Amino acid sequence: MPEHEFLLNDRPVRVRCDDDTPLVLVLRDQLGCTDVNYACLMGTCGTCTIEETGHGPVRSCQIAMREAQGRSFRTPGGSSVTLGD
Ligand code: FES
Repeated sequence: MPEHEFLLNDRPVRVRCDDDTPLVLVLRDQLGCTDVNYACLMGTCGTCTIEETGHGPVRSCQIAMREAQGRSFRTPGGSSVTLGD
């Protein structure tokens, strides 16, 4: 399974998941970010909105992990994360 690295709340994280996995699911299921939620997973409701450093709000259900590589994100509460293995 491919490895993906990005910054989350100013900390480097590394996770293994499919390239097509939506960022929001990685944040919730692999990194335990309970301050990030989702509903539609279609980019319409805005529930999954997080901040991309230097770019403003983004809908994390619309960012595939292949696109998250090397980017920097901040969750609404700046939750602590567990480093992926
Ligand atoms: S979950 Fe609805 S826009 Fe992302």
